[in-house]
Amino acid sequence: MFKLSEEGLKYVKSELTRYETKQSAIIRSLYRAQDENGGWVNHDVISHLSEVMEIPAAQIEEVATFYTMFNQKPVGKYHIQVCCTLTCGMMGGRELCDAMMKEAGCKEMGDVSADGMFTFSKVECLGSCDTAPMLQINRDPYTENLNMEKGLQLVRDLRARGKGH
Ligand code: FES
Repeated sequence: MFKLSEEGLKYVKSELTRYETKQSAIIRSLYRAQDENGGWVNHDVISHLSEVMEIPAAQIEEVATFYTMFNQKPVGKYHIQVCCTLTCGMMGGRELCDAMMKEAGCKEMGDVSADGMFTFSKVECLGSCDTAPMLQINRDPYTENLNMEKGLQLVRDLRARGKGH
């Protein structure tokens, strides 16, 4: 059964006081809960938030399933979200994503690699088209101006970093 940590609970309670409506606190609370649940949101997370926030579970679920930043199934330690639309697509985003997935040992989009390190998603424009092709790892700042070589090296570096922890 998922339960927020004490800190997480405090965070959600304070978010609830920040806005005019409680619903406005859903996104930030979901982020917090997702982080505490190992990177994804399931039914337990939603029902716990519903209880804590006193908001119907259906409303929280609607938000959690609408936005791609909330994961509906477990993800690897590094969730790599590659922009493949518009400029990034034209600058080789899709090919880059495929090559990085191969390097990481992920067969399908959304899969977790056997070592638990990687999950890939293709995402819509992240608003950084002038630095295409680009991607985001978890919720870190964007990784931009990529090419095939940099992308493959990034996978190797992350794998080495992940093993070090
Ligand atoms: Fe990739 Fe806009 S098209 S950031």
